[in-house]
Amino acid sequence: VTIPFRILDRLRAGRPLDEEALRRVAEGATREPEDGGWTDAELAAFLMGVAVRGLDPAGTRALTRAMLESGERWDLAAELPTVVDKHSTGGVADTVSLVLGPLLAACGVPVVMLTGRGLGHTGGTTDKLEAVPGLRLELGRDDCRRLLAAHALAIGTSTPAIAPADRRLYALRDRTATIRSLPLITASILSKKLATGAAAIVFDVKSGNGAFLREPAAARELARTLVATSRSLGRPASALLTDMSQPLGEWAGHTAEVRATLEALAGEGHPALMEVTFALAEEMAAQVGQGVSRADLEAAISTGRARALFDEWAAAQGADPAWLARPDLRLAPVERVVASPRAGVLARVDTRQLGLLLAEAGGGRLGPGGTIDHAVSLRYPRRLGDRIERGDELLRLYFREDDDDLVGRFAAALEVADDGEAPELIGERIG
Ligand code: URA
Repeated sequence: VTIPFRILDRLRAGRPLDEEALRRVAEGATREPEDGGWTDAELAAFLMGVAVRGLDPAGTRALTRAMLESGERWDLAAELPTVVDKHSTGGVADTVSLVLGPLLAACGVPVVMLTGRGLGHTGGTTDKLEAVPGLRLELGRDDCRRLLAAHALAIGTSTPAIAPADRRLYALRDRTATIRSLPLITASILSKKLATGAAAIVFDVKSGNGAFLREPAAARELARTLVATSRSLGRPASALLTDMSQPLGEWAGHTAEVRATLEALAGEGHPALMEVTFALAEEMAAQVGQGVSRADLEAAISTGRARALFDEWAAAQGADPAWLARPDLRLAPVERVVASPRAGVLARVDTRQLGLLLAEAGGGRLGPGGTIDHAVSLRYPRRLGDRIERGDELLRLYFREDDDDLVGRFAAALEVADDGEAPELIGERIG
């Protein structure tokens, strides 16, 4: 009987897996079967076992640690004790990372964020940054150290050396309906986040119909598990629960979100985007013992320091300075408007559907490896709870090619009714 068989048999029987067993799984995911690794069948059985049986907190911690130790660990905080990281579970029109990074860095708090690519209805920070010509996004340890020392900011995508076990397990989860498992999500996110070795992590966990986990109770449970597991592995962490029952800002789409970022850094950010950005920035600074107030953050914007830092950092990461001085952020040329068919109140937005339709129009990635038309975008000018007159603009779409059918499906994702309420933007703080 093989080792994978014994571990899987234990899992099937509902007996707890110890650290050694979970380490074997992570090692097995890092190597090919011919080199002593686990087969896809064995790993898939493990994933389904965990998805169905769950893991207790000790098991979640052990799996996270084993996946973390499957790859490089950078320990950036050894040289920069206040370097801080943020993770968001993702949303629509959510440009927080791009605003928050230079903003906090301009207040003297170094920020490292290695982010993923977007998939499905949400855009990825790395993909958005591709709208900036020349920006180099694959960052290794030495790149991050150099960028942090010079500009207090490093944003990019992780190299394959970070948490290789997650790479293989995540691809298998996608094919085996085991994405939605709390211990697997936690180990996946944290194995990558803990690898850079920031001094602390703040999680922005979304709930609502555009969120990865839409039910507030599920989002809260994920936030608690992320914070508890991170702390149990020695990294201070906290989380904010924020609303994703409508697009966060006014713009969705890669080029449009870079434009919204530059507007935010120039003091013209959308109020909801700024509210979440400020709240997370204060939380991050507090986690690394730095007192940064709302007034400090506002001053970093009004004095132009945050925008200057964005330009310096982007140039250091390869962006063309001439482009930064006069950014060309043109949107796709075919504009279509979705107008309200009636008077009332904006009552419901199917946020996930807006993101998926934007991807279908070319502005996102529907499957792994898909290409993105960065200029395809949408503007969401009104908010849930707003009074609407008949004919008011609810959406403005920027397509590469006209598509009546798609416009109709966008229109069906919004509902104006007799009553409707504005949701609370920032909910509970956990930690
Ligand atoms: N993001 C990740 O990196 N992993 C998950 O499992 C879910 C979201």
